[in-house]
Amino acid sequence: MSAILIRGGTVVTARGGERIDLLVRDGMIAKGAVQDAKAKVIDASDHLVLPGLIDCHVHFREPGFETKGTMESEAGSARAGGITTVCDMPNTNPPTTSIAALEDKVKRATKANNCDIRFFFGAMEREHLKQLEQLWTADVHRLLKGRCAGLKVYLDHSTGNQGAGKDVVEEAFQLCAALRIPLVVHCEDAKTNEEARENVMEKGINAHSLMRPPESEERAVASVIALARKHGALVHATHLSTAQGLALIRQAKKDGIAVTCDVAPHHLFLSVDDYAALGARAKMNPPLRTREHQEALWGAIADGTVDCIATDHAPHTREEKDIADPLKAPSGVPGVETLLPLLLTVAAGEWPHPTSSSPVPHLRYEDIVRLCFTNPNKIFSLRREDITEGARTPLVIVDPKGTWTITAKTLHAKCGWTPYEGWRMTGGVREVL
Ligand code: DOR
Ligand code: ZN
Repeated sequence: MSAILIRGGTVVTARGGERIDLLVRDGMIAKGAVQDAKAKVIDASDHLVLPGLIDCHVHFREPGFETKGTMESEAGSARAGGITTVCDMPNTNPPTTSIAALEDKVKRATKANNCDIRFFFGAMEREHLKQLEQLWTADVHRLLKGRCAGLKVYLDHSTGNQGAGKDVVEEAFQLCAALRIPLVVHCEDAKTNEEARENVMEKGINAHSLMRPPESEERAVASVIALARKHGALVHATHLSTAQGLALIRQAKKDGIAVTCDVAPHHLFLSVDDYAALGARAKMNPPLRTREHQEALWGAIADGTVDCIATDHAPHTREEKDIADPLKAPSGVPGVETLLPLLLTVAAGEWPHPTSSSPVPHLRYEDIVRLCFTNPNKIFSLRREDITEGARTPLVIVDPKGTWTITAKTLHAKCGWTPYEGWRMTGGVREVL
């Protein structure tokens, strides 16, 4: 029997903060003036207590790409950053496009038992959708289905070449609508990117953003909204990066279409101005945009258009990233351990970028919980519990005022680098229970 008394902390939910003691007895929460003489006491005065956060978009790389990361290494990184539930993407090797591949991933996830890993199914072919249908409808797969967060489709190729053709995309919408499966879409338009690629002469890393232009996202989001309208699927547009993409989502929500979205920390904190210092380490899909888009993303958080912030944690090794031709380097950045500190810094009233100045966006601690716990929990039916009486929720004790500097040396992701090296943080994770 274990008991921990967290005394004097402010418990944060999406509704706000409440100063209340918590007793965690054998993993179960009791609230209020609870007594247990044998409990280990944690003094949390001047600290915040958050539910273990949810990151609904990560690439933990296993199986197939263990040199970049493993479930165990990346789960450790997530937990150190206050994230205790993640949804892993299907672009592994083998890809998660069959029930057998999902089953294998679920087995592997038992090694990372300090993190609740859920998995998205992928589909590039009709056969993959058949497998998903079976997973969702056959009673023998009930438990496995409980580990699947939904379906992910790519409208254009990205790392792993999982781009799906128009027919498969349309069928995916039909199937997801019929079975109420959450459908996550990578919104870049293949044709627009192809045309842009032909016209870009530039050879440096800046070309990456020109070859995957904002119009590509705009067209993809427009087609996703049209399909959502036609079929009535629950669609989630992930890692939106442009003002236009978000404007379309804002309007679709006003029109009553069941569409939700997330944005990623690299688009919130970095822009094309960072290529000069970071080179291919700032290469990801969708790519970095101009400062105007970056500001529009914060605006869409402020007005409620954005439902979640998700990291798109996509580690690659330093060797892969630092090759001579930056355009040949793989796309993706790690981010699962730095998300919460970056957001805490903004909530503390500071802009963390060391060289770009910006008005500090308005963000409260309860917004962080809403964007990184409550909303993803609901959208993907993850069944995680809020900090309530009797719940078994992992707890994150946060020091909101402590200052420290990000350095890859102290982070836990296997890749050993971060695009935020040397950034000064205000607020960090003290303990995860
Ligand atoms: O930058 C990215 N990296 N975007 C993706 O869509 C895939 C990801 C990866 O798996 O590396
Ligand atoms: Zn991704």
